[in-house]
Amino acid sequence: MSATESTDAGPKSGRLRRGEEFEAEIETLAYGGRGIARRDGYVVFVSGALPGDKVRARVSKSKKGYAEAGTIEILEPSPQRLEETDIHQGEACPGAPWQALAYDRQLEFKEEQVGDSLSRIGHLDDFELDPIIPASEQWRYRNKVEYSFGEQDGEVVLGFHPRGRWDQILDIDDCRLSSEATNRARNEVLEWARREGISAYDPHDHRGVLRNLVVREGRRTGQVQTRLVTSVANFPKPPVDLHTVIDGPSGNTSGPTGVLGEEVLRERIFDLNIQLSHDSFFQTNTEMAEKLYGVATVYAGLTGSEKLFDLYCGVGTIGLSMAGQAGKVWGLEIVADAIENARRNAIANNIGNAEFVTANARTGLRPLIERAGKPDVITIDPPRAGLSAKIVRRVLEAEAKRIVYISCNPTTLAPNAAQLVEAGYRLVRVRPVDMFPQTPHIEVVAQFDRV
Ligand SMILES: C[S@@+](CC[C@H](N)C(=O)[O-])C[C@H]1O[C@@H](n2cnc3c(N)ncnc32)[C@H](O)[C@@H]1O
Repeated sequence: MSATESTDAGPKSGRLRRGEEFEAEIETLAYGGRGIARRDGYVVFVSGALPGDKVRARVSKSKKGYAEAGTIEILEPSPQRLEETDIHQGEACPGAPWQALAYDRQLEFKEEQVGDSLSRIGHLDDFELDPIIPASEQWRYRNKVEYSFGEQDGEVVLGFHPRGRWDQILDIDDCRLSSEATNRARNEVLEWARREGISAYDPHDHRGVLRNLVVREGRRTGQVQTRLVTSVANFPKPPVDLHTVIDGPSGNTSGPTGVLGEEVLRERIFDLNIQLSHDSFFQTNTEMAEKLYGVATVYAGLTGSEKLFDLYCGVGTIGLSMAGQAGKVWGLEIVADAIENARRNAIANNIGNAEFVTANARTGLRPLIERAGKPDVITIDPPRAGLSAKIVRRVLEAEAKRIVYISCNPTTLAPNAAQLVEAGYRLVRVRPVDMFPQTPHIEVVAQFDRV
């Protein structure tokens, strides 16, 4: 069965009920990383299992066409599994759910899932699928880590929630997805909290102080920036760069932020010096962001004179890295601080042909076209949800010759791609880039030409 196969139809004789336990062999992986098992044609998505595993699992959700289940026990491990000694923090490690799968297999699944999403969801088959670009580092690649505080046996701990367990913290002193420097910064803050006897915030009774620690790293500059998030403002001065106070319920992520150290994070990408404020998006894997932008640049095929719209531009990195090959770049992004960063980044790198506007893509594209005229080429790099049908219609109004779509979710790229093709574009080629080894996350670049 294929990774994104529709499960609406098909025989239902093997249907399982909620709470039921069953044994099955996992056939393949679904988009998002869960295993797929079948019982008389009835499909079950099983979390915590890999292809080839024989598992005992319990059903958590039962529908007419499919069920969802969690692994209780691996009865016979898949021959595709790596040795236990290669595994970091075991199955509990929430950031690396695919770590037991050999890296080559991870790449194969990702490439397959890109092709599957486009053909099954978007009904698109007539395009070139360029081979996935493997990550340059399979571990210690993340330039941003967000830890949560909690308490265990009366002691403050700092780590990650195990999958599906928001009431627990896995106290990890060496996260192998991030650098040694990032881990050191985390350990210093934890030691400080313990020394000073500061409590962790408890989301149930809204008591306690420490909520999160965000560590970001300029991989090329060596700068490590720490931001502590707490529920109150008054307590001993923390050894961090930034301090955010959020006194509302959990889930809020922004609040007033004081500066105690370095306010901006400095990074280099290609030959660009980039500055970021703490609420600006930046690709989580700096080394692979260069590869991703490299593919986007090849697909954009600029010749020096084009007007380029860089939609969802963040701090401007895509447009700025292409500015030397374009006539004029216009970046559009909803976060005002990111646009401020983008403008400064243009100045700092002596780029005089790039302008940036703060706007929602939905409402800001028409005014941008009025101001700047229609673009020759558009790059689009939206969040995981992709574009609404309405935003795609706005993009179509721009009548660009070429659209380069950078997506972190092939299942939302696919319907957007179908809409573009329906409206007269041709999906020319697609290339996955592995930004997130040990996880099911997929990044992909797609080129559309107007026919
Ligand atoms: C995946 S990031 C890409 C950023 C940038 N292109 C890069 O490579 O670093 C998506 C960006 O879209 C922005 N964004 C989210 N919703 C938006 C909207 N409705 N209109 C414009 N920008 C939006 C986010 O703030 C974020 O910076």
